[in-house]
Order: sequence, then structure tokens, then C-alpha cells
Amino acid sequence: MRMPFVAGNWKMNTTVTEGEQLVLEMIVKLDRIEGVEKVLCPPFVSLIAINMMLQGSSIKLGAQNMYFETAGAYTGEISPLMLRELCEFVILGHSERRGYFGETDEIVNKKVKAALANNLKPILCVGERLEENEAGKTEEVVNRQVMAALNGIEPVVLSRSSERSEETAKNLVIAYEPVWAIGTGKAASGKQVAATIQFIRDVVAKIWNKSIGQDLRILYGGSVTSANIVEFISQPEVDGALVGGASLKAEEFVSIVKQTAEIKGRKK
Ligand code: PGA
Repeated sequence: MRMPFVAGNWKMNTTVTEGEQLVLEMIVKLDRIEGVEKVLCPPFVSLIAINMMLQGSSIKLGAQNMYFETAGAYTGEISPLMLRELCEFVILGHSERRGYFGETDEIVNKKVKAALANNLKPILCVGERLEENEAGKTEEVVNRQVMAALNGIEPVVLSRSSERSEETAKNLVIAYEPVWAIGTGKAASGKQVAATIQFIRDVVAKIWNKSIGQDLRILYGGSVTSANIVEFISQPEVDGALVGGASLKAEEFVSIVKQTAEIKGRKK
């Protein structure tokens, strides 16, 4: 029922020219893969060029960050109004934003609200740091982050039809990304990920309702490669992946998406 979802987070990599080249290397193969929502999240400066390249394809575009105001004297920031002309998704609350740029739960909450209010679909990132993991605080941290990010958001705000829960679930994607697994080559285990993602579904069920908790897409992120993707997507709780480093290699990323389509397709 939940459409599998794989997004590539390019982070602060690729010039505009390199980004175009990367898209050229994968667009045909990626476009052909059915049964998975495919999203590329290049740097801001590449969005216009890549938006044009993706016209008429089944591949969607996302940004990596956004400010919560729609316009004004905020030098250097990018608003939801600017993004929504170019892309459908926006990554919010990534651990690198939280860790290096001081994004608090409150800021992430404002950004999620602003994105939804402006018809952008957030890919909300949550996840515990190494010391929190070792102290057995994974659920506590993830609970706090999800509760805070969705604070004050009514399911009805997100809805454009009478099928409230389905509409809500379609507009929001959550990525569970344990910080210790990001860019380290040390991915979490499939079982750990499945348990935490189920926990997130229960948190969402408490905030909104059970059907949204069930319908919402929740991804895993952290050192995902073509060699380990199966471990995650073979878990029924896991709907796909947010891929960093491996999304910068066309062949790797295509293989991750292809394997996701095959495994999730088989389970239907
Ligand atoms: P990684 O990054 O795949 O390079 O670990 C994932 C992410 O930060 O989204």
C-alpha cells in the first residue's frame, strides 16, 4: 500500500556541471524503474538545471534545506515559495543541519509547518547520536524529535480531500537516520532499523492516529549501498532509503533503486 521511496541526498557535492553529468549518467535507467518513487536532492544551485533535465521523466526533485519564512530580509536563505516552483520535496532536520548549523527541534518544527503550508513535501530526518545509542536512548531521542517536529500540525491542514489520513501520509516522509551510521560505512542492522521505524509509526499514531502511523512512509538512512540495501528494504516496516554517499555514483544509485523495486514488488 505504501509506495516505496528512494531519495539521493547529494549534500554539498557536485558543481552545476558535475550534477548535470551525474543526472545524464542515470536518467534513462532510473526513469525506467517502476514501483518506486525516485527523488534526487542536489544542491540549491543545481535545482533549476536538473528540474529542466527531469521534465517528462518519472524522477522527482527535492531540496536539502529551506528557511521557514516565505520572503524577506534573510540574507542567504531560500524560502518554500522559491522551492515549490522547482521541486516537490525538501529534506528537513538532517542531522548535519542539526549538528553543524544549530537547528533545534523548534526550528525543524517551523520548517515542517512552512513546507506543508506551501505545498512542499518534507522528508523529515530524525535519529540518535552514538552516545545516545550507547546509553540506550534511541527511542527517547526519536520520540522527542518526532513529537517536536510535528507539534501543532493538524492532519487536516495537510489534507485536500476527505480521505484525511491518506492525504497526510502522502505528504510527509520520515527518514530514520542514526547519526553514527551516516557517512561512516557502519550501517545499522535491518532488525534494529525495523524496530525503530515501528516505534516511529507508534509515535505518529499517538500524535495523529493509527491509520496515519500505518500509511506514512518511513525510510532508513545511513551508509546505504547497493550491497546492503536488501537488508533494510526486506523489512516490511521500512519503505525505502535516504542515500547519501552512494547516490553520487550513478550505477550504485540505480542499483539501490532497482533492488528496492524488485524486493518491494515481490512482497505485494
Ligand atoms: P550516507 O548519508 O548514505 O552517506 O551515510 C545518508 C544521509 O545523510 O542522508
